[in-house]
Amino acid sequence: MRRNLSRTDNLIHQFDTVLRTLVPRAAQPYRPNPAGKLAEEPLDEQERRHAEGLMRINHTGEVCAQALYQGQGMTAKLPQVRGQMEEAAQEEIDHLAWCDQRLQELEGRTSYLNPLFYAASFGIGATAGAIGDKISLGFVAATEDQVGKHLEEHMKTLPQADKRSRAILKQMAIDEAHHAQLALEAGGARFPAPVKLGMSLMSKVMTKSVYRV
Ligand SMILES: [Fe+2]
Ligand SMILES: [Fe+2]
Repeated sequence: MRRNLSRTDNLIHQFDTVLRTLVPRAAQPYRPNPAGKLAEEPLDEQERRHAEGLMRINHTGEVCAQALYQGQGMTAKLPQVRGQMEEAAQEEIDHLAWCDQRLQELEGRTSYLNPLFYAASFGIGATAGAIGDKISLGFVAATEDQVGKHLEEHMKTLPQADKRSRAILKQMAIDEAHHAQLALEAGGARFPAPVKLGMSLMSKVMTKSVYRV
């Protein structure tokens, strides 16, 4: 009886995470938005659309991070680092919420493809976790590296006037580098180049589609 109840509780908790990730404006950040009181400078329509496309990509990246950590949390053992991983997942919620807030400010929307990317990333996280902690942590490190590369690129191509988006991406880049380092220090495998290439191809598919859809 008791066991059933806790399993139900767990299911509700998992479902709650899915909803809070996929429903716009549902994620609550813990830390204040790094854009703070920075002035909203005027953007022309082309610039606004470009900033929206980039922030939508970053938002979907954070949806994937939620799903990856959730899938991993269900199957991985991670006895020593579970607390640290949960802290990293919390920071990802901040990222998700900040990107969502910025999309609203830009009068944009989140991607219609998010449920799809959520499901795929959950599967990858759960599979990696089931194979073993070394692989699962290695996957976190490689993903964070990939995200870091996107963030650098986006900070360069954002409209010059969009200081609010840039401030958010800057803090995210600091956090992601820290997550990658944590995962490696916890014993994550360093993935060989062909695996990394596969991951970067997958992320190209994501960024190309989500920029518009
Ligand atoms: Fe993140
Ligand atoms: Fe991260």
